[in-house]
Amino acid sequence: MSYETLLVEETDGYARITLNRPDKLNALNAQLLEELGDALVSLQSAEDVHALIITGSGSKAFAAGADIAELHACDAASGVEFARRGQAVFKQIEYFSKPVIAAVNGFALGGGCELALACHMRFAAEKARFGQPEVNLGIIPGYGGTQRLTRLVGRAKAIELILGGGVIDAETAQTIGLVNGVYPAEELMDATLAFVKIILSKGQVAVRNALQSIIATDELSPSAGMDFEAERFGATTATADFKEGTLAFLEKRPAKFTNR
Ligand code: COA
Repeated sequence: MSYETLLVEETDGYARITLNRPDKLNALNAQLLEELGDALVSLQSAEDVHALIITGSGSKAFAAGADIAELHACDAASGVEFARRGQAVFKQIEYFSKPVIAAVNGFALGGGCELALACHMRFAAEKARFGQPEVNLGIIPGYGGTQRLTRLVGRAKAIELILGGGVIDAETAQTIGLVNGVYPAEELMDATLAFVKIILSKGQVAVRNALQSIIATDELSPSAGMDFEAERFGATTATADFKEGTLAFLEKRPAKFTNR
């Protein structure tokens, strides 16, 4: 896969997408969003890819938001389309059937923070900074921020961040549950990879069914969520991995999963 605004690498069971507009702090322009959507479609069907890391190029930014130069041209009609285009790509991330982890290496502002929020987990460098500064530009978050940030950190913190338009550091982001872990910048990718390797050591049918059941909580009522979980649990009991995992426990040996 070759793109102008992304680097995409596949290796050892996982893929890494690097947002690659470092001179613009990886701002999310239309081309980048389109390429990201294409890369996600392709990686979704890549049989050798079981997890995905998204990060930013350069030492400064994960992504400093939607491209403000493009944003400036929006009017009432095109503004709706602008938001829907980003929302559609971020929904691809949220509903990606394999775990997606953001390795937030620097600024994650506006659409950059929303991109991180759409990922299933977020690991951050100590120097990472998070915020939804859209009100400073006279707009509101449009790539899912009002919805996902509120679900993740609660209404009061989301209101504080979105209405205040301020920026928080990585440690504060961890305290409010916005990120899973914080590491020195030079250790961020190794720490992210270490967790990816843990995931890769499991049976991938179980991993994906667990992930889909968790993601389903956003759309389903509590009782429909229980039904969904029971159905997915049943699906995992039909796998060779289930037989192997339970037999390995009984035989006191490590399981050898085949992802079937
Ligand atoms: N859209 C388009 N270009 C952006 C951008 C964005 N969201 N964020 C940064 N850039 C560009 C700058 O215009 C600049 O380009 P130039 O060198 O051609 O002038 C380059 O990236 C470097 O940014 P700069 O502002 O000079 O870096 P800085 O270290 O002084 O400040 C930030 C870093 C992140 C604080 C600052 O860039 C910023 O506030 N960005 C906008 C954040 C934002 O409001 N995002 C929400 C958008 S909806």
